[in-house]
Amino acid sequence: MTDDTQNKPLLDVQNLTVRFAIKRGGLFGKAKYLYAVDDISFQIKRGETLAIVGESGSGKTTAALAVARLVNAYKGRVDLDDTDFLSLQDEDLRQARSKMQFIFQDPYSSLNPRIRAEKIVREPLDNLDTVPNEERQEIVDKLFEAVGLHPEQQRLFPHQFSGGQRQRIGIARALATQPDLIICDEPVSALDVAVQAQILNLLRKLQADFGLTFLFISHDLGVVQHMCDTIAVMYMGKIVEYGDRKSLFNNPLHPYTKALLSAVPSVDKKRRAETKRILIPGDPPDPLDLPKGCRFANRCPVAQDRCRSEQPNLNEVTQAHSVACHLVNETGIAPI
Ligand SMILES: Nc1ncnc2c1ncn2[C@@H]1O[C@H](COP(=O)(O)OP(=O)(O)OP(=O)(O)O)[C@@H](O)[C@H]1O
Ligand code: SF4
Ligand SMILES: [Mg+2]
Repeated sequence: MTDDTQNKPLLDVQNLTVRFAIKRGGLFGKAKYLYAVDDISFQIKRGETLAIVGESGSGKTTAALAVARLVNAYKGRVDLDDTDFLSLQDEDLRQARSKMQFIFQDPYSSLNPRIRAEKIVREPLDNLDTVPNEERQEIVDKLFEAVGLHPEQQRLFPHQFSGGQRQRIGIARALATQPDLIICDEPVSALDVAVQAQILNLLRKLQADFGLTFLFISHDLGVVQHMCDTIAVMYMGKIVEYGDRKSLFNNPLHPYTKALLSAVPSVDKKRRAETKRILIPGDPPDPLDLPKGCRFANRCPVAQDRCRSEQPNLNEVTQAHSVACHLVNETGIAPI
């Protein structure tokens, strides 16, 4: 492999925008557009993990669904391993889709209660129909073993498993077609803390063993701190801070990221002891009536006049770290 090939991202998302038409004011009222994802770009290298972090409603799930074409992108481009994914049609799309799999938050509602675990894991292979029928059971056996489930559990139904075990089934199913990219949408937030750690460890082990690439979504920076190479912090449809894990955890710059991080007790205990918890006052703005300037301005403790009139661009502070904040852009340092 040349250096160039090694450095190429597996997933390259450029200027992705997703909007939903929202009807207001009765039958003949004009539709307004809600920009759930507004011009975001990110890349993931093969074998690495990008985490998208942000509060509820920031657009994390919509971004992931648009990457997988489960909702339509209004603008932007998604390249998966050099394939222009958003322009694929029919059979090409079906084949390419099998290269991206989802692991969902709620392992119970995402598994069909009437189907045995064995069939749930096997289903993606049956749908894709590229592996000979007689080889599929062997793959299912291996997947059960890889996720730490016993062979005899293949005959059970989802309700006969615990939450953590159900998430293991979801992971086995996601791995069945040997996808290039696995999108994990809050995969542990419905689980107890002890079980969360087991599932995160399993995901890390599977990544090391099989060279998996993850797009990992969480509202909790604490969950992603041991899980990711790069982090994109989203707020109201925009990426407000983007950087490698070390830069972002050691030197958070955006006031929103600082506040999120100050709420994570386990991140850098020594530094946390010196740092007060930063509370974010107020509520996010109405997504159908976004402010002209910085979307965080009404909650930001250091907002200036300029912040209310001009939207900050996501600018590079270093090669590995970008921030969308006027004050950081002016001074290069975190304003709080
Ligand atoms: N199908 C839809 N139709 C209209 N609006 C939608 C739709 N899906 C999402 N939205 C809106 O888009 C915005 C982003 O939602 P999204 O679910 O992507 O956020 P999220 O970051 O995943 O939140 P959470 O942490 O709660 O899962 C929200 O304002 C949401 O109400
Ligand atoms: S641009 Fe202004 S309002 Fe927005 S985060 Fe930076 S300082 Fe706060
Ligand atoms: Mg979500």
